[in-house]
Amino acid sequence: MGEFINLADVPKVKIYTGEEIPGVGMGTFGSDRFGSEEVSNAVAGAIRCGYQMFDCAACYGNEKEIGEVFKTAFDEGVVERKDLYITTKVWNDMHERVEESCRKSIADLQCDYIDLFFIHWPFPNYHAPGCDGDARNPESKPFSVEEFMNTYRQCEDLVKKGLIRHIGISNMTIPKMEAVLPLMEIMPVACELEMHVSFQQQELFDYLKAHNIAPIGYMPLGSPQRPERDIFPDDVADLEMPEMKKIAKAHGVHPALIALKWAQQRGQIPIPFSVKERNYVSNLKCLTEDPLTEEEMAEIATLEKNNRLVKGQVFLWEGAKDWHDLWDEDGVIVTL
Ligand SMILES: NC(=O)c1ccc[n+]([C@@H]2O[C@H](COP(=O)([O-])OP(=O)(O)OC[C@H]3O[C@@H](n4cnc5c(N)ncnc54)[C@H](OP(=O)(O)O)[C@@H]3O)[C@@H](O)[C@H]2O)c1
Repeated sequence: MGEFINLADVPKVKIYTGEEIPGVGMGTFGSDRFGSEEVSNAVAGAIRCGYQMFDCAACYGNEKEIGEVFKTAFDEGVVERKDLYITTKVWNDMHERVEESCRKSIADLQCDYIDLFFIHWPFPNYHAPGCDGDARNPESKPFSVEEFMNTYRQCEDLVKKGLIRHIGISNMTIPKMEAVLPLMEIMPVACELEMHVSFQQQELFDYLKAHNIAPIGYMPLGSPQRPERDIFPDDVADLEMPEMKKIAKAHGVHPALIALKWAQQRGQIPIPFSVKERNYVSNLKCLTEDPLTEEEMAEIATLEKNNRLVKGQVFLWEGAKDWHDLWDEDGVIVTL
């Protein structure tokens, strides 16, 4: 067994309820490359080294195996349930049956309740896990406020029933939030979105901060092993940028750790994924020591390249122009 990181040193983030949640989590999406056993073994090691937040999802197909790991950790007294912050997400084909999805995740994860429950995507457009980039579902539709709120209301009911503690939204845009936030009874505590050095989403980041919604940055390392469907010739590799390598050299660490320090110091919660103990330990440890200087933070802020990696083309509906339609880039919700 490897190193245990002192929890008191791991950064925390205060959400609008006043509660402090972990300032870093571990991703659990195997990217169609890493099997359930590999991912759950990493979760087992990560609990023992001090990770408290785990970013799960029904569609990652590994909640049963991760649940076995949680149960063992609870049974062996490695950690108590209350010390973990377990997140999961309802997948697009379950927007009408949110409670069923949530109960299945709770059963699979063997965790009694979910700390933070996300609507994974803001529309019910389904694609099969592991599909290729050309896959399209003829039933896909553009975003609808009514449909989204129907799903969101079910999440609010789950809070009232005690099945989940907090609600999260994911893959949202400012126009979509402008339309739905005023309709909510229980505000979301967090929004999960793609955020990394070459895709900083400054406007959306500022919007979330202004609305007391904690930004959780997915693909914080630029996801070097993302699924084939999300790889395009013009994509930028964050960890290969000369500036990142230079700053990494000055700190004597891998550029991945610079990306995580930047994310945490900027004010987002990074959720890096790794199945390698050496990497997931250093991903947590790096946030407890040797911060970046103001100059380094400022230099990394200049590395924005509008490099969206999850374009989401597999969610497009008939009549949509291209993947840009998913992201409301002109400031209005794209319908048809
Ligand atoms: N809400 C959403 O729609 C959504 C979408 C995508 C992802 N996510 C979540 O975000 C999490 C993270 O995204 P991601 O897994 O795509 O990408 P990521 O965390 O940016 O990158 C993971 C990759 O970085 C490598 N890596 C990790 N630590 C490293 C280190 N210290 N040094 C060198 N390489 C390192 C890993 O390889 P090794 O295994 O070889 O270390 C792995 O291939 C996912 O697991 C998932 O939980 C959510």
